[in-house]
Amino acid sequence: MALNRWEEVRRRHAAAEAGGGQERMKKQHAEGKLSARERIDLLLDEGSFEELDKLVRHNCRDFGMENQVVDGDGFVTGFGLIHGRPVYVFAQDFTVFGGSLSEANAKKICKVMDLAMKTGAPVIGLNDSGGARIQEGVKSLAGYAEIFLRNTLASGVIPQISAILGPCAGGAVYSPAITDFTLMVDRTSYMFVTGPEVIKTVTHEDVTKERLGGAMTHNSLSGVAQFIAADDADCLRLIRKLLSFLPQNNRDLPPRKPCTDPVDRMDRTLDTLVPENPNVPYDMKEIILRVVDDGEFLEVHEHFAKNLVVGFARLDGRVVGVVANQPAHLAGCLDINSSVKGARFVRFCDAFQIPILTFEDVPGFLPGTDQEFGGIIRHGAKLLYAYAEATVPKITVITRKAYGGAYCVMGSKHLRTDINFAYPTAEIAVMGAEGAAHIIYRRELAQAADPAKLLEEKVLEYQERFANPFVAAEQGYIDDVILPHETRYRVIRALRQLENKIDTMPRKKHGNIPL
Ligand code: HXC
Repeated sequence: MALNRWEEVRRRHAAAEAGGGQERMKKQHAEGKLSARERIDLLLDEGSFEELDKLVRHNCRDFGMENQVVDGDGFVTGFGLIHGRPVYVFAQDFTVFGGSLSEANAKKICKVMDLAMKTGAPVIGLNDSGGARIQEGVKSLAGYAEIFLRNTLASGVIPQISAILGPCAGGAVYSPAITDFTLMVDRTSYMFVTGPEVIKTVTHEDVTKERLGGAMTHNSLSGVAQFIAADDADCLRLIRKLLSFLPQNNRDLPPRKPCTDPVDRMDRTLDTLVPENPNVPYDMKEIILRVVDDGEFLEVHEHFAKNLVVGFARLDGRVVGVVANQPAHLAGCLDINSSVKGARFVRFCDAFQIPILTFEDVPGFLPGTDQEFGGIIRHGAKLLYAYAEATVPKITVITRKAYGGAYCVMGSKHLRTDINFAYPTAEIAVMGAEGAAHIIYRRELAQAADPAKLLEEKVLEYQERFANPFVAAEQGYIDDVILPHETRYRVIRALRQLENKIDTMPRKKHGNIPL
């Protein structure tokens, strides 16, 4: 009897591991995709995976499903380690009913999510699925909703990461959408609410799957995904790297690394990196790379709203979230997409105790009917709200322009930023000198014998009065005007000082961010 049971254990485990069988596995590999188990092996530290619910079976008795039972029901779930720290994982196995979600395997996902919440560890979902299991009807939809609920409750408590490694369509997209980071694999993954056929029927638009919901579409156009990977292995490596910057939960601190890059490293290149002419662009990423530890920067949302750069780096071994205007794109203007991108990143950092370092060079909000009709007012307000709400240590360095409302938004002192530095090249003003002179001296310019000469004089006058960091420094809005080569040292000293910062929010159920 006991021996038979032993045999049964082996048989059932082997059946679960075989998934949908060799033929379907071959097809999966031929499409350039790994199996669910191969993915988990690459994701986790070697030998650390502990599988749960390997013997779960579905309960469907319709459409002949009673005769099609696969142990594990196509999802592989459990826990393991990444860089020695616990994580929970679920992976949809496309070889079993197209990775579709059944009542039984939804419960498997919920089980690991509940454990992750109780033990304060990140959850990683590896998605590759045809969506709701059609044979199960509403039971499958209920399963999705149970997952969405858990995604929402876990938001801001534990980091949640979604990798899209195949199809992810219909309402199924909303679980990744609620999680903190979505990674997609180039050419083999796609996400959409309605597919190309439905679109063709309803709106008569012709669009390919790739164009509609491929990895680059969501990385560069919609902003749904924050990372693009070359293949499955690259995607799993990227998740490991991303996690190396994140704490386990909202009560934990991000992992600190020993720092070998000298804290007082001075970089003279920085002194000439910002052009004197305010109209000449430069690459803000150069400044970031020269300031942070070992020039290591994990950019988030690299292909979306390039006028704002966000990502993770370390200073003195401590993780920081970097937010920076990018003068090399749209002159660094804030627009709808960059505001939403920045707001989401700032809120993530604030939720997970990651200090925010802002590099500012912003001429203002992007003008135009597209922006106004699209609601730049409420979207821009999101970024403002996110900065104002954030209680983590906040440091801002103004490298050049800090004009108008954008000055207020980008981590200004008035939004309770702790330490504000400015370079000597900084211009802190309501607007650029030329625009200002035109408005203030409109009447004089209209009557002048030589308007060009008068304009030049007035521009210079305004520049001297306001287009510099000193007026703001005299008011204490800027804590110090620093020399660019000492940025790293000054920022690190500020960060060290702010390590035990405590700031609070008034008691409330939750705020009402302008969504
Ligand atoms: C059950 C499914 C399935 C599903 C695929 N399969 N999707 N079984 N429920 N949702 C099965 C197929 O029958 C097939 O079984 C195997 O998985 C592989 O599917 P193929 O079609 O052969 O693969 P491929 O050609 O790669 O096409 C993949 C696909 C296609 C594009 C995902 O399978 C497809 O369109 N599936 C239906 C997608 C869908 O409409 N889902 C419901 C969306 S609505 P065999 O035995 O032949 O290997 C939804 C709502 C969620 O998800 C709501 C949440 C709130």
